[in-house]
Amino acid sequence: MRGNGVYPENSEKIPVIIDCDPGHDDAIALMLAFGCRRLDVLGITTVAGNTTGENAYRNALAILSLISADVSVARGADSPILRPLHTSRDVHGESGLDGLSVPPNAKGGDLSAVEFLSSTLRRSETKITLVPTGPLTNIAIAFLAFPDIKEKIERVVLMGGVAGQGNVTPSAEFNIFADPEAARVVFQSGVPITMIGLDATHKALVYPEEVEEIRKIGRVGALAAGLLDFYSLAYKARGFKGTPIHDALAVAAVFDEGVVKTEYARVDVEIRGEFTAGRTVVDFRGVTGKEPNAKVAVDVDRDRFLNLLMSAISVL
Ligand code: BDR
Ligand code: CA
Repeated sequence: MRGNGVYPENSEKIPVIIDCDPGHDDAIALMLAFGCRRLDVLGITTVAGNTTGENAYRNALAILSLISADVSVARGADSPILRPLHTSRDVHGESGLDGLSVPPNAKGGDLSAVEFLSSTLRRSETKITLVPTGPLTNIAIAFLAFPDIKEKIERVVLMGGVAGQGNVTPSAEFNIFADPEAARVVFQSGVPITMIGLDATHKALVYPEEVEEIRKIGRVGALAAGLLDFYSLAYKARGFKGTPIHDALAVAAVFDEGVVKTEYARVDVEIRGEFTAGRTVVDFRGVTGKEPNAKVAVDVDRDRFLNLLMSAISVL
């Protein structure tokens, strides 16, 4: 086990809502969120992305139950705003969490994701951080339907986008590619955004020997390593020496800003390009003359990230 990156139970916690599409790395992001002891997770909302809306909801419930996290889960959009659903079956398998056996037939709760987001934000006396780790469909719909909730948002720390090379197309990262119209709404919303994209997450790698370290941590370590066993296959096939745990880096960046290096820049989302739909066009040099709207992660402190992750898993 690495050094102790866990903060004491009584330190001030950051209120967050995590919007996810589990997904192996979403599942590990949830472990970090609950194990880090730095976040007050007010609820989880789910969205179709890596897998169908039904699977994403069921998978979130299953993971939360496996880590004994008692939190509301609200099921969200079953498809992007305008486009057909494009899942990530090649990485996450048919169920979205292949490699883990998950009980079927979870029904949705009373509130939809958008209802949960709007009611929680409206009622809150303090500002809340949103952490989307899937397509931005729920967040965009909530912003359009209830624009007043934007005032209650501290910031959006999202996993998505890339300034360099994409992973679904040479131009686009999966979460933005899956629902570019939603992403455009969010990036144009005026809410402070931290974009944890592939420029950073492709350096947030966990290597095979580290997966073995994680496996030894205990019951949740074995669960995380089991997820990584399946999830690593797709990355190995793509020539990666380690596996990027994209979504967990977004969670880490909420409570430990030093885990990533960011640059403040204008980000626009391409929705029409024949070859470039879903691209996050990042203007690092200010050539557009537009006001910056996002802190864009450009680098990661990998050791620090891994330390946080292992420490969090060890307390679950
Ligand atoms: C993102 O796409 C999904 O496959 C992962 O869960 C992550 O959120 C990486 O591009
Ligand atoms: Ca995800």
